[in-house]
Amino acid sequence: MKAELSAEKIKEMLVGGAEKYSITIFDEIHSTNSYLKEKAEGLADGTVIIAKRQTAGRGRLGRSFVSDRGGLYMSLLIKPNLEAEKSIFLTTAAAVAVARAIEEVSGKDTGIKWVNDIFIDGKKVCGILTEGATNTEDGLLQYAVIGIGINVTEPEGGFAKEIADIAISVFGKASPENAENELAAKILNQLSIVLNSPQESEILDQYRQRSIVIGKKVDIIYEDASLSATVTGIDDSAAIILKTEDGKIIRKTSGEISVRI
Ligand code: BTN
Repeated sequence: MKAELSAEKIKEMLVGGAEKYSITIFDEIHSTNSYLKEKAEGLADGTVIIAKRQTAGRGRLGRSFVSDRGGLYMSLLIKPNLEAEKSIFLTTAAAVAVARAIEEVSGKDTGIKWVNDIFIDGKKVCGILTEGATNTEDGLLQYAVIGIGINVTEPEGGFAKEIADIAISVFGKASPENAENELAAKILNQLSIVLNSPQESEILDQYRQRSIVIGKKVDIIYEDASLSATVTGIDDSAAIILKTEDGKIIRKTSGEISVRI
C-alpha cells in the first residue's frame, strides 16, 4: 500500500531548523502560492501549504502551470528581514535547495536553467515561482512566498499535451514507498539550510555548478524584447551575464531563456 502524503510523516523527517515549519496538506487547491498570498498577513513565517493537485497553478511571467496529479505542489511563506532588491537570491537559493533534495531522494543528477527551472536529462522536472510584497517605507520584504511544482511521477495517461515533449518526472511512472513525503521533507530541510545560511557565495557556486546555460548560446526574452547571446556567467547577485553577437556584454536580473540547439 502506497504511503499517502501526510503532514505527520513529513514532520517526522524535518531537521536542522525546518521542524518549526507548520504544514497543511490539501488534496486539491486553486494555487498554493495564491492561498498564501491571500492570507499572508495573518499567517506566520514558516507556513507551508502542500497540494496534490492545483486547479489554477501559476507559473512565471503570468503563465499558468499544469498541476495534475502525480506532482507535488508546495509553497513556503517566509517573512525575512531582506531588502526587496535581494529577493532574486531567494529564487536561486530555492533552486539549489530543490536540486539537492531531488538528487538525495532519487540519486539522479539535476541541472538548473536560469532563473529557476530544474532539469533532469534535458527536460524540466520542476519550476519555482517566488512572489512577495515590499514595504514601501523601508524597502524591506513584508513577506515572500516560494512556490515549487515538481513532477514526482508521470500522471496516469501521461503528461498534458502542452508539456509532454519538455517534461520529465523524478521517478518515472511509479515512485518508491513514501517517496513523496521524503521529497517534501528533504525540500523543506534544504530550504531551511539555504534560507538561513550566511554563505550566499557558496550557494551561488552550487547554483553555477548545476547551471545548464553557462557557455551556451541562448535566446533571452525580457521586457517584450528578444535577443540572441552567449551566457558567460552568473554574477554574485544571481544576475545572468551575456555576450551578444556584436560583442556587447549585458546583465539581466529577470527574463526567460531558451537554449539554442
Ligand atoms: C514556472 O515554471 O514558471 C514556475 C512554476 C511554479 C509552480 C508552483 S506549484 C506551487 C506554487 N503554486 C503555484 O500556483 N505556482 C507554484
